Amino acid sequence: MKVLVTGSAGFIGNHLAKRLVDEGHEVVGIDNINSYYDESLKQARLDRIRGYDSFYEEKLDISNNDAVDDCFARHKPDYVVHLAAQAGVRYSIESPQSYVQSNLVGFANILEACRNHPVKHLVFASSSSIYGASRKMPYGERDITDHQINLYSASKKSNEAMAHAYSHLYDIPVTGLRFFTVYGDWGRPDMAFFKFANAIVKGETIDVYNRGNMTRDFTYVGDIIEGIIQVLTKPAKTDTKWDAKQPKPGSSGVAAYKIYNIGCGKPVKLMHYIEVLEKCLGRKAEKNLMEMQAGDVLDTCADITELARDTGYSPSTTVEEGMQKFADWFLDYYQIDQN
Ligand SMILES: NC(=O)c1ccc[n+]([C@@H]2O[C@H](COP(=O)([O-])OP(=O)(O)OC[C@H]3O[C@@H](n4cnc5c(N)ncnc54)[C@H](O)[C@@H]3O)[C@@H](O)[C@H]2O)c1
Repeated sequence: MKVLVTGSAGFIGNHLAKRLVDEGHEVVGIDNINSYYDESLKQARLDRIRGYDSFYEEKLDISNNDAVDDCFARHKPDYVVHLAAQAGVRYSIESPQSYVQSNLVGFANILEACRNHPVKHLVFASSSSIYGASRKMPYGERDITDHQINLYSASKKSNEAMAHAYSHLYDIPVTGLRFFTVYGDWGRPDMAFFKFANAIVKGETIDVYNRGNMTRDFTYVGDIIEGIIQVLTKPAKTDTKWDAKQPKPGSSGVAAYKIYNIGCGKPVKLMHYIEVLEKCLGRKAEKNLMEMQAGDVLDTCADITELARDTGYSPSTTVEEGMQKFADWFLDYYQIDQN
């Protein structure tokens, strides 16, 4: 396969690109290597795959339509996994324009490129955060998702709607994956697990929002990559049982379009997650118990039965195992002596 992966210097995109080249596929990796977080970490991730003849690096900004179109025209990918985005909930309050440019303009450009240079399947990253104010647990693809509480989540909701329209108009098989808090080695420094690890090893205090009274469906990155690959090779199809008078939200009778949750399905209390991290790093955390943050949600829990049924997806990594892999990588990458 020739797979174009956007966000190939990012946490999930880089794991995916590495797995694909390791399996003998060709990968075109798009990333603008922006400075939202440590660029040297992005470069180090890319260094893991730069040596492969089957990896073609494209440093470009997806908000530049001509650059995206030119890249698709030159490489003619069979499949596209679109992961580049301005991620992060809290930063969307500080810098809304980054979300408009990367997640809305950038996404429209990827859709246009798939229209002009047809692909077998476009898989793109949505987010569990689109369930927003809903407290109906577990979150299922059959549920309505009309109540986002921050611009990041709203941009992901828009992506799902834009993808459906393009799939309908231009026969593009499209699948959106709603990721649930992904963690693991080569992770993202702006995410809680990474910030906690940084603070713990430095003996600094960690901020624990809502006094730790939250649960998250933490998903190990290796399980996510497995799921993406299973989905990629099964292009979305029009749902022949879809009823226009009772329209299901996660599939379509007028487009080859599908939405899946991709999580672990076993939510963990934030305090337990911190305890596991302390154990893996061999140090205790100083905790600063804070109030709930604006734009944040209390709990997330994924219903993953649809993805399991259609692809055999079966996340098997426990928080203890996944966190150990993250901690081992973290201590080694930053050359931190555990003693
Ligand atoms: N990690 C999670 O827990 C999580 C949860 C839900 C959804 N997601 C989504 O999954 C995808 C991947 O997330 P991640 O954790 O790997 O994030 P990441 O920030 O590590 O990776 C995104 C990559 O995209 C690149 N990028 C951003 N804007 C770009 C632009 N305009 N042009 C080109 N490249 C650009 C960044 O440089 C970065 O390397 C994102 O779409 C994110 O919104 C992630």
